[in-house]
Amino acid sequence: MSASIFDYPEVYDAILCHSDEVVKAEVATIVDLLERHGITGSRVLDLACGTGVHSVELAQKGIEVVGLDASVAMVEASQRRAKRCDIELKVIEGDVVDFDLGGDFDAAIFMSETFPMIHRYQDLVSHFASVRRALRPKGLYIVDVDAKRHGVGIDYYRWGDKTVQIGDQQIAIWHESFPGNWVDGTSRLVMHTRIVDGDKTITTRDDWTGRNDAPWHLDLLVRTLAGWSLSGFCSWRDASRDIADEDHYFMVLQSV
Ligand SMILES: C[S@@+](CC[C@H](N)C(=O)[O-])C[C@H]1O[C@@H](n2cnc3c(N)ncnc32)[C@H](O)[C@@H]1O
Repeated sequence: MSASIFDYPEVYDAILCHSDEVVKAEVATIVDLLERHGITGSRVLDLACGTGVHSVELAQKGIEVVGLDASVAMVEASQRRAKRCDIELKVIEGDVVDFDLGGDFDAAIFMSETFPMIHRYQDLVSHFASVRRALRPKGLYIVDVDAKRHGVGIDYYRWGDKTVQIGDQQIAIWHESFPGNWVDGTSRLVMHTRIVDGDKTITTRDDWTGRNDAPWHLDLLVRTLAGWSLSGFCSWRDASRDIADEDHYFMVLQSV
């Protein structure tokens, strides 16, 4: 089996992670959304927290954060980031599709367009039930969604060849897009990296299937789930800003 980019957190940070500037804007919008929903002094669950960029930024604003991620390497990287920033951060290894962390979180976040990767309806039902279990009544759930402007029917192509240097490592990255499955409403993207460090070469390959939802599909989805209401959609830059021009946007749900 090929290694995953998530086995190499430093490489993930260099090539995929949102920039510091974007993360700061996203976290400012998250804090604004919490306040708009009357949530202050909160305890937040960061789902698929990766290397902990949002967790640490939120914790630096005095919010208690718990991270959850399926990758041991990412869990360890987020703990290293927290330690570097002198922040207390609990990070748990687990699966966003099915988890049980007790029920005392005021809010949960799911950032960096990871949510569309849950593409089976049963997994979505299980995911939303898990998040709702974790939240207090009227808890907020903020999900970053890929705008998928290109839709389902794209043809196979190879794109995004680039090389980056991290210390002594030279990293080549390329992506392959495959035609989507219109019946499932999904598209498929394979991301490859080749990490060359002296005589040593490592390759990673991640094969991602993602849903191609428009906001109204998400509205309908939420209506099929027990215990949620849709508060709305907004830009990650600013809770008052429209989503039409964005490549990704926030869906805001409240547990009822
Ligand atoms: C695109 S990264 C996003 C990381 C982080 N939220 C950020 O904004 O940088 C996706 C993360 O999801 C994690 N992940 C993927 N599938 C998962 C699952 N089923 N359960 C928990 N974490 C998962 C990966 O290990 C990775 O850290």
